[in-house]
Amino acid sequence: MSDEFVVRNENILHSGMFHPTLRTWQGLQCNIGPENFMYPVFIVEENNAIQPIDSMPGISRFGVDSLKQHLQPLIAKGLKSILLFGVINTLTKDDNATHADSPQNPVIKALPKLLEWFPDLIIACDVCLCPYTSHGHCGMFNNDGSLDNTSSIRRISKIALNYAKAGAHIVAPSDMMDGRIGAIKTELVNNGLGNKVAVLSYTAKFASNFYGPFRDAAKSKPAYGDRKCYQLPAGGAGLALRAAERDVSEGADMLMVKPVMIYMDLVRQIKDKYPERPMFVYQVSGEYSMIYNASVKGTFDLRLGLMEIFSSLRRAGADVIISYFTPLVLHWMSQPKNKL
Ligand code: PBG
Repeated sequence: MSDEFVVRNENILHSGMFHPTLRTWQGLQCNIGPENFMYPVFIVEENNAIQPIDSMPGISRFGVDSLKQHLQPLIAKGLKSILLFGVINTLTKDDNATHADSPQNPVIKALPKLLEWFPDLIIACDVCLCPYTSHGHCGMFNNDGSLDNTSSIRRISKIALNYAKAGAHIVAPSDMMDGRIGAIKTELVNNGLGNKVAVLSYTAKFASNFYGPFRDAAKSKPAYGDRKCYQLPAGGAGLALRAAERDVSEGADMLMVKPVMIYMDLVRQIKDKYPERPMFVYQVSGEYSMIYNASVKGTFDLRLGLMEIFSSLRRAGADVIISYFTPLVLHWMSQPKNKL
């Protein structure tokens, strides 16, 4: 064959994909719209409260009435779902996490109101003991100080059931105890809620340095020790994949990787292994503050930097991005293109 038709590599890379529309076709699966976002919200006991969180510029805890005001314009801009975190102040914390699902719990109280005000909004509830235990850990302990897995998942599944009964569409256990997905599914099925409430598992949740601002926000810093015995070690790709296998076998409807930016290899691996399950990623509090502060310092333009990050998360396999930036993103998306 003559050299005339041999395609050389540099020609392939410039293969006529010059037009903006052709370029868009290159990355359609990385598109982002309002349905790709879930907005995490901290809810407190006092109905009219708005409490700015120092370590997360632009983010506040809300009482249910001020949350209504906050969410209304976001829903008009296409907000599809929120993730609720209860934060208590006057209610007491104890070994049993009593106020995780007591009638006075801010999440339990807010759910019926939010459902009435915003009938189309999907409401997920974080399920964990740490904001409600006196020690601030995510599970319960034996007398010798070891984790009591059976009591922990028994309690966690009851809390999930009570959120489901109060109207949650999704329960999302973030504790990382073994067997909690199966325990929650069983409770839901036994109470006739098996096909009404979905389970979103914090599957690959790493013991991370990027949760600091959240622990301020949720007042859930452990009183002693750390979470390394139940959250995954940074290098633990194998454990993360085994956790995904475990959660899927126990009936998880949706999976999550958290934090995300430094764990995107696992997003791809888990998505490839379980393509039929929506893949959630949590851009956590430390990632939020880091990106925000970098933009304030002029490292990059916040909108352009975030759009690059979000496209990359989609490219890695994320279907839904849990992000504190959701209000800002919805605002940008609702602007005419030339006014961004
Ligand atoms: C509670 C929980 C945490 C986060 C979500 N659920 C903190 C932790 O495990 O210490 C972190 C979220 C964030 O940093 O934005 N178990």
